[in-house]
Amino acid sequence: MIDTHDLAVPESELSPPYSRYADFYDRLNQSTFSTRLAQEMLTYFEGIGHFPGKVLDLACGTGAAAHLYAQRGCKVVGLERSNQMLAHAKRRADGQTEIRFLEGDLRDLRAIRFNESFDLVSCYFDSINYLLLEEEIVSCFQAVHALTVPGGFFVFDVPTRWGFTELWDNATHVAIDEPDLFGLYRSSYDPVTRLSPLQLTIFQRVGSDETATWTRFDECHTERAYTLSELTSALSAAGYTVTECFDVRDNGASLLPSGDESAHRVAFVAQRLTELTPAGNVD
Ligand SMILES: C[S@@+](CC[C@H](N)C(=O)[O-])C[C@H]1O[C@@H](n2cnc3c(N)ncnc32)[C@H](O)[C@@H]1O
Repeated sequence: MIDTHDLAVPESELSPPYSRYADFYDRLNQSTFSTRLAQEMLTYFEGIGHFPGKVLDLACGTGAAAHLYAQRGCKVVGLERSNQMLAHAKRRADGQTEIRFLEGDLRDLRAIRFNESFDLVSCYFDSINYLLLEEEIVSCFQAVHALTVPGGFFVFDVPTRWGFTELWDNATHVAIDEPDLFGLYRSSYDPVTRLSPLQLTIFQRVGSDETATWTRFDECHTERAYTLSELTSALSAAGYTVTECFDVRDNGASLLPSGDESAHRVAFVAQRLTELTPAGNVD
C-alpha cells in the first residue's frame, strides 16, 4: 500500500502509527484542531436547537474534543485504536465521570458493545481518511448510523483531494524545533491511488547536559483522499442526509457554509433520517 521508496528509513524501523507520537501529540499542538472544531460544531448545533446530550467521539486521539464536550455538559464516549493515545486521553479526563473511553477500531465498530446510542457522533481531524478502502468507509458509516439516535447527527472533516495536493504532496514541515525536541513531517500524495503517506520523524534529547544523547523514532501514517460525492453517497447509503458541508478554515476555528472540492478541508454534518414505521407514520 505504501510506496516505501518515499520513506527515508526502512519500513522495519518504523514504529507503529501513534505508538510513540502519542507522547508528543499535544506538545506539537495537534489537539487544538479538534478542540476548535468541536467548539464550532456545538455552536452550530445550539443555533439549530439541538443539544447533544450523549456524544460519541470516534478516533478520539488524546481526548481533546471529548474533554470539551464533557465541559459543556454532554455525556461522552471516546473511542480510539491506539492504546497510547487512549492513555493520554484518560489522563486528560482525570477521572471525570461523564467521559468513558473504549479501545476499538473504526473498521470494526459492530464488535464493540456501546450499550447506548448517541445524539451526536463525531470523528475529527482526518481520522476518516485513515480508512484506506471505500468499503471500509461504507461499512463504518453504516455502523455509525446504527449508533445514532433517529434525528441525531454524524460530523467529520476530511482534507479534499485539492487539500492533499496543495498541502501534503512533496511537502516537508518542521513540526517542532526546541532545545530538547526536533520533529519533521514529510509527506507525498499520489493522485491516482489517492494515498498520502506521511513520515513523521522525531528527535528527542535525553539526559542532562554532559551526558545528553538524542533518540530518534519514525512513524508512517497513510491516509486516503475521498471525493465529496463518494462520501455523500456513502452517507446516504447508510441512511444519513447531508445537512451541511462546511469549508473549514483557521485551523478548525471557522466554518463557511460552502465546502466544496475547491476547499482544502471540509466538514460534513449528516443527520440520521427519522425512521418511518411500516404504516408510514413518523416514529
Ligand atoms: C489525526 S489523529 C486525530 C485524533 C483526534 N480526533 C484529534 O482530532 O486530535 C487520527 C487518530 O485516528 C486514530 N485512528 C486511525 N485509524 C483508526 C481506526 N481504524 N480506528 C480507530 N482509530 C483510528 C489514530 O490512532 C489517531 O488517534
